[in-house]
Amino acid sequence: MTMNASAILDLPEPTFSPAVARATEPIRQRLEGVVPAIEWPVHAAYIEAINRLKRERNAIVLGHNYMTPEIFHGVADLVGDSLSLARMAAETEADVIVLAGVHFMAETAKLMNPSKTVLIPDLGAGCSLSESITAEDVRRLRQQHPGVPVVTYVNTSAEVKAETDVCCTSANAVQVVESLGVDRVIFLPDAYLGRYVASKTSVEVILWDGTCIVHERFTGAEMRGLRASHPGLAIVAHPECPPDVLAEADFVGSTSGMIRFVGDTRPNQVMLVTECSMSDNVAVEYPDVEFIRPCNLCPYMKKITLPAIYESLRTLQHPIEIDAAVAQRARRAVERMLEVGRDRNN
Ligand code: 13P
Ligand code: SF4
Repeated sequence: MTMNASAILDLPEPTFSPAVARATEPIRQRLEGVVPAIEWPVHAAYIEAINRLKRERNAIVLGHNYMTPEIFHGVADLVGDSLSLARMAAETEADVIVLAGVHFMAETAKLMNPSKTVLIPDLGAGCSLSESITAEDVRRLRQQHPGVPVVTYVNTSAEVKAETDVCCTSANAVQVVESLGVDRVIFLPDAYLGRYVASKTSVEVILWDGTCIVHERFTGAEMRGLRASHPGLAIVAHPECPPDVLAEADFVGSTSGMIRFVGDTRPNQVMLVTECSMSDNVAVEYPDVEFIRPCNLCPYMKKITLPAIYESLRTLQHPIEIDAAVAQRARRAVERMLEVGRDRNN
């Protein structure tokens, strides 16, 4: 590490100045349509301070697609869905990885690159899916279904991953299930993603009843209403949505798959049926596309703010630690997933 490998840095509060304004001007221009002008001086001060601290710490910020635009476009070095963040974490040469996302993503990054310091800026950045299941639940399911392999969504704790045969993300779930060459799998913990997978394969899928509190709130009736009022609207949904929502969608995929769909098809109007910040982030890239709301906020993702990232880099809080025995087994399940989809990222 270049300097201050473990020290808490005693630094003044980030403040806005003409020098900060000049350094951040290209970012301000990009974000003009999505970040209110009145907020910019505060964001700019933190963006400049974070980007300076990253250099001092030899750190990178990995940002999930649900981060707010000032994080996504201002300080994230690499951005993506859960699958790409896991791959990026495995490959980075940086000493410190700040995971601008939720806790399970930071744990996955630590599993992929255990010698690095992996930080989650706020320990409250959890996930309703991750909280819906424990390692004990998985052991009980295995007893109920002897010999049936367990496929686990990465939105789970390392302890749950350790009880798993192979992990998956929304980008590769069908591919992972089919890679096992079996008739039945236990699929955990997202019931809606599991039902979506079941609709795409002949493999029987035994479900758990976890849901995402963001995606479960969308309804098919809402989609039909929006389509009626916006003829030609492209509906692009995440597979954590209920089946009646997915039935109305023109495209279903991971957050990165959804973004790619917008880039490839350039619809006049699109609704991204997912977390709110993603539309803002994509709108910056495609000003010719009109983004129709509503959307839902993820309260866990929104724990990650510019001040939280700054504090994380300044104090090296909160480092991810995983019990060695748990990590070894959990890593195996994630690596097995990465082997399945090595040449794909949809
Ligand atoms: P992706 O892997 O598609 O980015 O999804 C992660 C997530 O938390 C969706 O709610
Ligand atoms: Fe978890 Fe849903 Fe938030 Fe994603 S959007 S982190 S699945 S609660």
